Amino acid sequence: MCGIVGYVGHSAGRVNTGHNALDVVLEGLRRLEYRGYDSAGIAVVADGTISSRKKSGKLSNLVAELEASPLPESLTGIGHTRWATHGGPTDQNAHPHLSDGDRLAVIHNGIIENFAELKQELLRKGVTFRSETDTEVAAALLGDIYRNQLKGDASNGGLTKAMQLACQRLEGAFTLLAVHADQPDVVVAARRNSPLVVGLGDGENFLGSDVSGFIDYTRRAVELGQDQIVTITADTVEITDFYGTPAEGKEYHVNWDPASAEKGGFPSFMEKEIHDQPDAVLQTLLGRSDVNGKLTLDELRVDPELLKSVDKIIVLACGTSAYAGQVAKYAIEHWCRIPTEVELSHEFRYRDPIVDQNTLIVSISQSGETMDTLMAVRYAKEQGAKTVSICNTNGSTIPRESDAVLYTHAGPEIAVASTKAFLAQITAAYLLGLYLAQLRGNKFQGEIKDVLADLNKIPAKIQQILDNEAQIKELGQAMADAKSVLFLGRHVGFPVAMEGALKLKELAYIHAEGFAAGELKHGPIALIEEGQPVFVVVPSPRGRDSLHAKVVSNIQEVRARGAKTIVIAEEGDEAVKAYAEHVFYIPETPTLLAPLLSTVPLQIFALALASAKGYDVDQPRNLAKSVTVE
Ligand code: M6R
Repeated sequence: MCGIVGYVGHSAGRVNTGHNALDVVLEGLRRLEYRGYDSAGIAVVADGTISSRKKSGKLSNLVAELEASPLPESLTGIGHTRWATHGGPTDQNAHPHLSDGDRLAVIHNGIIENFAELKQELLRKGVTFRSETDTEVAAALLGDIYRNQLKGDASNGGLTKAMQLACQRLEGAFTLLAVHADQPDVVVAARRNSPLVVGLGDGENFLGSDVSGFIDYTRRAVELGQDQIVTITADTVEITDFYGTPAEGKEYHVNWDPASAEKGGFPSFMEKEIHDQPDAVLQTLLGRSDVNGKLTLDELRVDPELLKSVDKIIVLACGTSAYAGQVAKYAIEHWCRIPTEVELSHEFRYRDPIVDQNTLIVSISQSGETMDTLMAVRYAKEQGAKTVSICNTNGSTIPRESDAVLYTHAGPEIAVASTKAFLAQITAAYLLGLYLAQLRGNKFQGEIKDVLADLNKIPAKIQQILDNEAQIKELGQAMADAKSVLFLGRHVGFPVAMEGALKLKELAYIHAEGFAAGELKHGPIALIEEGQPVFVVVPSPRGRDSLHAKVVSNIQEVRARGAKTIVIAEEGDEAVKAYAEHVFYIPETPTLLAPLLSTVPLQIFALALASAKGYDVDQPRNLAKSVTVE
């Protein structure tokens, strides 16, 4: 939520980078725009003053503004792309916000919870405000401390000291970046419960909400801890806590290259990421088992004895990641016989959950920064639980604060609607389930090897679906006028149905619901009327019990009431043809693994329908990729 970039470049006596701050910051904002696109703004320090431009709407509006009214060349700049919290998406509420006679500029991600009381205090001192944002209050507080408490004296600690004092007064979650005309070679930043990473260049340094903010310039990054302040110049990076005590950051290498965060010839990031899915699953499986089918999850640094003593698993996640968790529940309970609950992080955090040292918390998050999930994990840790994170973003906060992490190797996911991360999360959760089964002796090694062999066939099967996407795309385009679409599934097909509905809601802005097929007759069937489109995720006819027969009965129930049924079924399942307007076949696979295949046509359908309506599938309205506020 909100993308943040900072840059200081071109120090004397070092490599002459020749970078203009405006170019670096704009490039970073382009890559970070997926974090929020309600407005964008930039401030540079040049000629002893701050110059800034800001504009509501997407980054392209700011670029047009900059063409009409260029900023001076500069070596120091900050930039912001906003997901609105306090105050609507207007020009006035866009960041940066200025204070100290417009000599100080601040950008912010997060929520300052005590902004109202601070604002009253500043109003009493005669400060005036131009926006409705909590950010402007933080900027004014920083300006007041710098000018009145520190007397604007850089030798008194300057902007860094002012930031420390300001942060001691701020409550809530925030990343703040500030520049001051008095210190033209410095950007000061602070973070509490909100993401920020440092990029290390040669004679230049960077700040970003995540590494994509500077990936075009360096792959050397530094993780910051909670409640830390960092001051960057072209040559130095100094970290302290909010009280000035020096601290160390942890340097790491970013192992993806800028090309992996480009569209690669596809019209949208989302379409490209759907097509990345065979590789996302493959990369997540790679190197995690030996030739004998023995899982080697060396990165799970939790004592095996502790994992053996686990008597309950709680999966914590939000949105699509929570649906991955629901799929994981079926697999983990089946393979390990450990009771497994899946709970939305924000619901878990604010009730009184039963958690103890025998509980294993498995958090699932693509970004690793989702505030609801972070808070839930912290809470569970306080109760003594062991925590494992399934995450796609190296060095992000949730894995850093967890006891262990199992990274998904899906590569950067830029489109706001999650696709490849979902399949990679499910894959990683399967690996975790199999590992626990291996450790606890719930499964023979041969059985684990067989499941792994089936998993290893999945990438090619996804590719097969993608190679035949034209049929489902056509249907999506033809249904552009649909007002409502329902999705049904049983067993692992139920979370797939919910994920299919979520994709349609967030991309095409039409009413969509995913139901457990068996639940229909308990109420939702009243929604069915003549022509109502209903997708049904049908389990394999080769699967267990009478699951397939039950779902086929559910199809007949809705058809009898006028529904137009669209069925996702396994190749060779001829029985469903009689009850479906359209059938999309997916390759044969064991029931538990089927979500890795049955989700894909639903993603393509939502993409095609939303594109046919002319919507921006990468940046759907009102959303942001990474939800860093509660
Ligand atoms: O980064 P996370 O996986 O923690 O994000 C969780 C949800 O915000 C995310 O999955 C969201 O639901 C996506 N927009 C779904 O497409």
